[in-house]
Amino acid sequence: MSEHIGQKEWTKEKLTAWLDVTGTEEEQLFRHSAAVKQEYVGNSVYLRGLIELSNICEKDCYYCGIRRSNCKVHRYTVSHDEVLAAVRFAYEKGFGSVTIQSGEMTSPAFIRRIDRILREAKKITQGEIGITLSCGEQTEETYRRWFESGAERYLLRIETSSEALYRKLHPDDAKHSYARRVEALEALRKTGYQTGTGVMIGLPFQTAEDLADDLLFMKQREIDMCGMGPYIAHADTPLWAFRDQLLPLGARLRLSLRMVSLLRILMPDINIAATTALQAIATEGREEAIRIGANVLMPNITPAQYRDDYLLYENKPVFTRNDEDELAYLAAQLQKINHHIGYYRKGNSPHYRKSDRVQTAEHHRQ
Ligand code: 5AD
Repeated sequence: MSEHIGQKEWTKEKLTAWLDVTGTEEEQLFRHSAAVKQEYVGNSVYLRGLIELSNICEKDCYYCGIRRSNCKVHRYTVSHDEVLAAVRFAYEKGFGSVTIQSGEMTSPAFIRRIDRILREAKKITQGEIGITLSCGEQTEETYRRWFESGAERYLLRIETSSEALYRKLHPDDAKHSYARRVEALEALRKTGYQTGTGVMIGLPFQTAEDLADDLLFMKQREIDMCGMGPYIAHADTPLWAFRDQLLPLGARLRLSLRMVSLLRILMPDINIAATTALQAIATEGREEAIRIGANVLMPNITPAQYRDDYLLYENKPVFTRNDEDELAYLAAQLQKINHHIGYYRKGNSPHYRKSDRVQTAEHHRQ
């Protein structure tokens, strides 16, 4: 590519072209995004202890291993006390924040349960732990209730910003509506959450143009955080049938890294997670993402006995070390690439801090 990366506006065409680069051009791209990252968010990496609360799910997404119709899955729910023990662990180790993720459920019992976890997690940490929820599409009222109980961030991946592709990846019914998912994202923003979204990369039928649109979708919606990673096929899902059409795993990883790199350039001050799916392809996939643009890591702190059952995709890394050793390992890994963990820091999105939604959030809490 002849022109310099930073020049000119980031059009869909330009993004599509850069999504395709390899070799020295890719190196040039990564050098640029690493410099942008250094300038805007520095070399601190913030931790979110990930608690996979339950794999029970009302949805039936064609790509996901814990989809409702997969009867091979052993369904579990982490108990209230176990969740709080994981929160306490994160707090004591200086994680600064946790993410509570779950299969999508909308029952009043589930809504109450999350509410109770939020209140107690705040209580046992003197209000200091940051809490991100990743519990799917809910009503605006539920989002508000959880916000008032102490959740301050919410992650809801759009999965793909192309409505046509979205339809190919989900059943055609009201539970899986693209429009409703976009509305849910809007509701989260309106409520005052630091709002995160993300997509899967290298999906069957997905084009580079679709991915360029994904980047522009995130930019246009002014998101505060992003978690995105490679799609990895799961044998007990309908999309498994299309596995021969996918990019090879190595290429999917590179493409995911280029997505992270371009998003950092487009949105220099947001939080970008180095996701577990990157690690599923390459042992040091997450570290590579951090080097070129990501600034958040989500170590899994789900109680050990449940981890084998939250298999969204094949080869999901489950457990090699205990949680404490894992933390030491990550700290050492980051040091190798001249980064360090931002212990005891919530690591709010600088993008959100600058925005007028900080005032909205204060208002809602009063
Ligand atoms: N490959 C990669 N990511 C997946 N997810 C679900 N299934 C897969 C898969 N097969 C991601 C979705 C979801 C998140 C929790 O996990 O993007 O939002």
